[in-house]
Amino acid sequence: MACLHQASTPFAAPSLEVGVGTGRVAEALRLDVGADPALTALERARSRGVCAVGALGDALPFADQTFGLVVLSATLCFAPDPPALLREATRVVRDGGRVVVGIVPRESSWGRRYEEWGRAGHPFYSLARLRTVDEVRSLVEGAGLATDRVRATLWGDCDQVDAAALAVVVPTADSADDAGFVALGAVRHPTSQDWDLRP
Ligand SMILES: C[S@@+](CC[C@H](N)C(=O)[O-])C[C@H]1O[C@@H](n2cnc3c(N)ncnc32)[C@H](O)[C@@H]1O
Repeated sequence: MACLHQASTPFAAPSLEVGVGTGRVAEALRLDVGADPALTALERARSRGVCAVGALGDALPFADQTFGLVVLSATLCFAPDPPALLREATRVVRDGGRVVVGIVPRESSWGRRYEEWGRAGHPFYSLARLRTVDEVRSLVEGAGLATDRVRATLWGDCDQVDAAALAVVVPTADSADDAGFVALGAVRHPTSQDWDLRP
């Protein structure tokens, strides 16, 4: 959560999570609205107080430039058409607003473990297509967004992780493929020089 939080700051309202699922992230980050096609999960999100809407990220029921922040956490890897999700995220975020994409990098120990489970037929992970940080950055930039911030957490072996590791978030260069979770923050149509341009 700390990783997504850093990549999302400052939180410009209103905010949207695409692929909100059961609302764990939206609740923790206090996002305003969540969208997801999984209607049962949305019930759980609503019970957490999230304003949840049944919708595909590929065709969001919102007007152009509605949001100041759009978050996609662990969603791109489950979507059949990731470029369509990012195009829609770009459409509904306003100029100068942020899109934040959280991923489990394919080459991290976490990514390799999830892929192993997927190959073994896990009902959830067998549906995921994990990517490298560079692959996701290309998708983000292909949608017309400018990546200005990469944050990473959960370094090292997934068998050795403890709760404290979740709080360690590192600003990083674009290749952070050994981290178990990476958040890429990007801006629509840069118009200011004030962003955090640290690698
Ligand atoms: C692993 S869950 C992530 C839930 C939440 N974002 C989190 O980080 O805890 C992935 C979510 O993506 C949603 N999803 C898959 N394809 C989608 C699409 N095309 N548009 C929007 N959401 C989608 C799934 O229904 C699921 O709730």
